[in-house]
Amino acid sequence: MKCRKCGAKAAINMRQHKLALCKQHYLEWIPTQTQRFIEEHHMFSPEDRILVAVSGGKDSLALWDILTRLGYQADGLYIGLGIDSGFGYSDKSLHFCQKYAEDHRLSLIVVDVKDAYGSTIPQLNEKTPRGKDKPCAVCGLSKRNIMNRVARDGDYDVLVTGHNLDDEAAVLFGNTLNWLGSYLLRQGPVLEADHPGLVRKAKPLFRFYERETTAYALLRGIEYIYDECPHAEGAKSIYYKEVLNQLERNRPGTKLIFYLNFLKAKEGGLFAEQAPETDPLNTCLTCGQPTSSPEQCAFCRLVERSTP
Ligand code: AMP
Ligand code: FES
Ligand code: ZN
Ligand code: ZN
Repeated sequence: MKCRKCGAKAAINMRQHKLALCKQHYLEWIPTQTQRFIEEHHMFSPEDRILVAVSGGKDSLALWDILTRLGYQADGLYIGLGIDSGFGYSDKSLHFCQKYAEDHRLSLIVVDVKDAYGSTIPQLNEKTPRGKDKPCAVCGLSKRNIMNRVARDGDYDVLVTGHNLDDEAAVLFGNTLNWLGSYLLRQGPVLEADHPGLVRKAKPLFRFYERETTAYALLRGIEYIYDECPHAEGAKSIYYKEVLNQLERNRPGTKLIFYLNFLKAKEGGLFAEQAPETDPLNTCLTCGQPTSSPEQCAFCRLVERSTP
């Protein structure tokens, strides 16, 4: 297989685009495409201050790398979840974020959940009524609260995450299987800050397949944590990814078409009647973030419950 641009040996073949590229041209193609998606979806502009949520994995570190190569001002945010599972998952993840930041002279903000709130994510989870279950729901709730708070306090214009097409298509698949209209309505590459105290969110890698972001990270020599979160095993999202991969194997491009046609349908008004009643949101008395609860947001209640 040869590079379409220069005829050298191809490093990657993207069947869904009928495009093979050598290492050099692939490493140019990814940022050029990312820039196109940023502009098409009005994600942010060169003057904006960006906060990149980095987990130590390939996607978010690749995203930080791409944005800084494109000339954007992007600081990193790592949230220490306190997940060990016998191999120091969180410590290892922090190590790769710090290494990337140091090697590229970038600023990394670190929030350790245990230091900041007194308990790790698994400890916070134990205090919930479903404390025997996996901590993923508590983890998601905590990450969303902390990411928004840090972005708001630091006056960032936008918070970006490393979600790729496989992630987004799997969420879409789950939402569609259950016809969750209001979730479908909110799913997309940009989440507007539609309430004071909320920061805009964007997912600039949403059109790249996971194998494309992996290839980018490897070819750029980015060091990242290979392990998945130990609690992810058996998660529904992984099962949905496998199902979509089977479809993709027989028909390259299935995932991309599924997701892009969903965005088109949404633009055309599908699910618009699912728009939730716009009850005015309250402000959490503890963290000052918007919440539908009357006094404290779900995260602050969780933290309070775990405080002796
Ligand atoms: P995940 O939900 O683990 O698939 O991660 C999705 C995205 O959330 C990643 O690409 C990161 O941008 C962000 N993220 C996940 N975990 C962390 C973390 N511990 N600290 C900061 N950002 C994270
Ligand atoms: Fe949060 Fe796995 S439980 S990353
Ligand atoms: Zn080439
Ligand atoms: Zn709160």
